[in-house]
Amino acid sequence: MLNGFKDRDFVNLAFAGAMAGKNVVIVIEKMSELDHTLDIAAKFAKEAPEAPLPMVGVRVKLYSKGSGKWEKSGGEAAKFGLTTTEILEVIRRLQEAGRIDMLKLLHFHIGSQLTDIKRIKNAMKEAARTYAKIVKMNIPIQYLDVGGGMAVDYDGSRTSFESSANYNAREFANDVIYVIKTVCDDENVEHPTIIQESGRYLSAYHAMLVTNVQDEIETVVESLTEMEMTKDDPQIVQELHDLRETINGKNYREYYHDALENRDELFTMFNLGLISLEAKGKGEVLFWDICEKADQFAQQKKYVAEEFDELRQLMCVKYLANFSVFRSMPDNWALEQLFPIVPIHKLNKKPSEYATLCDITCDSDGIVDKFVDLHDVKPVLELHTLVKGESYYLAMMLVGAYQEVMGNNHNLFGVPHEAHVFIGEDGYIIKKVVYGATLGDAVASVRFEPGQLQDTFRRAVLQRIKEGKLSNDEGSKAIRFYEDQVESYTYLTPNGK
Ligand SMILES: Cc1ncc(COP(=O)(O)O)c(C=O)c1O
Repeated sequence: MLNGFKDRDFVNLAFAGAMAGKNVVIVIEKMSELDHTLDIAAKFAKEAPEAPLPMVGVRVKLYSKGSGKWEKSGGEAAKFGLTTTEILEVIRRLQEAGRIDMLKLLHFHIGSQLTDIKRIKNAMKEAARTYAKIVKMNIPIQYLDVGGGMAVDYDGSRTSFESSANYNAREFANDVIYVIKTVCDDENVEHPTIIQESGRYLSAYHAMLVTNVQDEIETVVESLTEMEMTKDDPQIVQELHDLRETINGKNYREYYHDALENRDELFTMFNLGLISLEAKGKGEVLFWDICEKADQFAQQKKYVAEEFDELRQLMCVKYLANFSVFRSMPDNWALEQLFPIVPIHKLNKKPSEYATLCDITCDSDGIVDKFVDLHDVKPVLELHTLVKGESYYLAMMLVGAYQEVMGNNHNLFGVPHEAHVFIGEDGYIIKKVVYGATLGDAVASVRFEPGQLQDTFRRAVLQRIKEGKLSNDEGSKAIRFYEDQVESYTYLTPNGK
């Protein structure tokens, strides 16, 4: 099925494919593609009259639209597809050229991740009716290609929310067959052979990204040493201290507001040079202590005020995970698409932290702070406390659709290591391990020659040795280290490989 824009070379390739015995369908999405097809077919008629020809299909631009993030792929303003007038013109021109027997297929695709079955049924009705009317014109069309778009239920909610689907594969199949059968019976035409091209639904489940949490970044400022108040502490610090000592379940909301005001005043006074660095540090610790206490009191209440939900988000810890959002989950960054993320360690222990995730790129967009939830989108994920020296791995699920190909080399993070795992009745085996990109690959992708970089580094070190600023031994070690980096992985590893 040749979808997308096709120039003359592409159409020529379709004819070559047919000669090689492939079932090729040139799906006409623009009139220029028909010009190329008829032209090349005429050439074949002269030069190789016996050669098998590819089939021709037409992509119809339906009035019916899909639902969800990719809704704009369908409807009258869609990028691809032919209008009714254009389809009639394709038929007329194929008939005029004596090539109408090439027209075998009607196709439509109203977008990816179609979340609502009602919209799918509407599109199906329109397409089936168009198909039947074409058959009634005595055109030997046989195939109805219902495109892709079957949605993946990323959040498990089974709703028409953009990360979900209010139907499953069985219901989708039943509805497609039922609608097409009903329309064809109504029009009294033979039932078509139905083709479906769902990509996301088939591929999402084939891959997950596994990443280790490398470290954590706390927002809450904690005292690194025992904090002692003195009578010399400025008034603003004393006030924060009083709030911390007297906050309780009845006054926590008022005291939290006072603390916010005091914190602003603390920064203003510091910027005016009125308080010392030590006082500012003390004030910050006291402020976050008050926030933590206020949060605890707020979460005990039946109804948690919105500001305390926001406070919880602000206070949550950021887990630094060893991956690049841009490389491995670009749709999360570009489209705010949600993927289910779960720890794959400590599953017998209750999570005790609320965290968001940061990747290891230096881009502040490299974060994940929206997570799937049955009833909503969660701003934080429940995770376990990190323990120094213990591994903690997370799995980002259902990334098999589009993420690998859409992923980019932003900040020069390359493809991660890949393991091909086969799961059978007797367990699983790792069939293949494909190593990810090296630093050498990453720099070469932006047109730096690793050998040239090594030469430049070597020359700089040799110059320092010549000037007596480095010993031979130190210089050689530095050169060897630098040269070894070419082969190292772009992500963090215990030994750099
Ligand atoms: C013409 C066509 N068919 C099928 C698909 C696959 O769509 P999905 O992965 O949503 O099933 C696409 C994707 O955009 C498409 O453009």
